[in-house]
Amino acid sequence: MGWREQCKDKIVTAAEAVSHIKSGDKVMFADWIGEPPALVEALVARGEELENVEIIHGMSPGPQAYLEEKYRGHFHHTAFFFGKKARDAYAKNDGRVDYLGGVTYHKWPEMFAVNPDLNPHWGMVSVSVPDENGMCSFGNTCCFTEPVVRTAAKVIVQINPNMPNVCGTKYDITKADYIVEQASPLYPIGRVEPDEKTKKIADYCASLVEDHATIQLGIGALPDAIARNLTSKKDLGVHTETMTEAIMDLIKAGVITNKYKTLKPGVCVTSQIAGSEEFYAFCNNNPMIEEYPVDFTNDPYIIGQNYKQTSINGCLEVNLLGEVNSETVDGHQYSGIGGQLDHVRGAQLSKGGISIIALNSTAKHDAISKIVPSFAPGNVTTVSRYDVDYIVTEYGIAALKYKTVRQRAEALIAIAHPKFREELTQKAIEMGLIPKQG
Ligand code: COA
Repeated sequence: MGWREQCKDKIVTAAEAVSHIKSGDKVMFADWIGEPPALVEALVARGEELENVEIIHGMSPGPQAYLEEKYRGHFHHTAFFFGKKARDAYAKNDGRVDYLGGVTYHKWPEMFAVNPDLNPHWGMVSVSVPDENGMCSFGNTCCFTEPVVRTAAKVIVQINPNMPNVCGTKYDITKADYIVEQASPLYPIGRVEPDEKTKKIADYCASLVEDHATIQLGIGALPDAIARNLTSKKDLGVHTETMTEAIMDLIKAGVITNKYKTLKPGVCVTSQIAGSEEFYAFCNNNPMIEEYPVDFTNDPYIIGQNYKQTSINGCLEVNLLGEVNSETVDGHQYSGIGGQLDHVRGAQLSKGGISIIALNSTAKHDAISKIVPSFAPGNVTTVSRYDVDYIVTEYGIAALKYKTVRQRAEALIAIAHPKFREELTQKAIEMGLIPKQG
């Protein structure tokens, strides 16, 4: 008997599926571009009849209508990564949104499983079209999606025919409680053209990547630009959180072969794929690309099993001690930790591994230095000075590992924007980081 026959009583409309959610229930969605739009929309449509429904997820690319003022008391949102809408709602400090900080990404599945306050009544996810036996993939996002179905008491799935069928983790659709068959467009993730500063930063970062290294890159202009600078490298591998079209280009160019990977050789390991239709078609049933949940891809002990694991991530500011803030601006939560610390620590555990943190030397049209003497009150340290290897700006590379406090401060001042170097030097002297001149 095929899955459709087995599940015939579970196949319902989105409205029917969410009609079982009650006031006071906790509902966890698949994260980011894996969000199931039809199910979220149907839940929001019930907003006025529900009370105190807790909505738990990371960043959302969707409309997030449940954050609207009119749903106060109907929905409350707990987020573990902010996009703009949740960030703005949280900044109002009016109790509609809570931020779940203090836990790195690979530990989130465990946190939801063991903390009864967070244990969700409902999980809502998107999947690809199942095969005859009911096996499907989590499409573009396995990272937190598989933990959602693993953790939630009841699961509603949206079968979205637009979702690619990615190798690696599979889901047996017959285990779902309700199944909704509905196509939704995938949230597009485009390529970003780098500006001149970004190209310089990318040049420096690429110069640190060795042949046969296994790389972790994120999304955005900088990772795209770095990838373009890697075309002369040999036999790179991929173990990452998010795989993008830039990686596809390097596979097609024969640069990424995964030949020397010490963990899962021959395969790009990722927790999600983000790109265009062409990219999703490339990933569909591609045996060279495997998706796994974050408690595999982001576990530092797993990452560290790769030889020469090279992680490259962005940040918001670095202080003269070499501490990195990637989450807060002016004392307010801006984004989240995501997998950054996981990958930095994984690189530390890897034989020959390195972690690179890259940033523009300034923000706000050169008005603000992103290399600062110390962080403002409320700004957090995402990566401690014990975990940082290299900081890169458009002015060069600061190699911090195994350096004295003085050497660190001097190396960071040397890659700050020239107009801030004198001021930073004076502050470093006042802080006792470098000796008084003369
Ligand atoms: N002070 C004040 N404002 C600052 C600032 C600073 N030090 N640094 C950046 N900003 C402002 C920018 O001007 C920009 O504002 P705008 O939107 O008004 O132009 C905004 O903050 C975002 O800065 P930007 O440098 O463009 O950020 P980004 O989009 O490149 O994202 C992070 C950088 C660090 C926020 C993002 O990479 C992140 O969330 N990282 C943590 C998670 C992670 O690394 N995941 C991947 C691991 S696999």
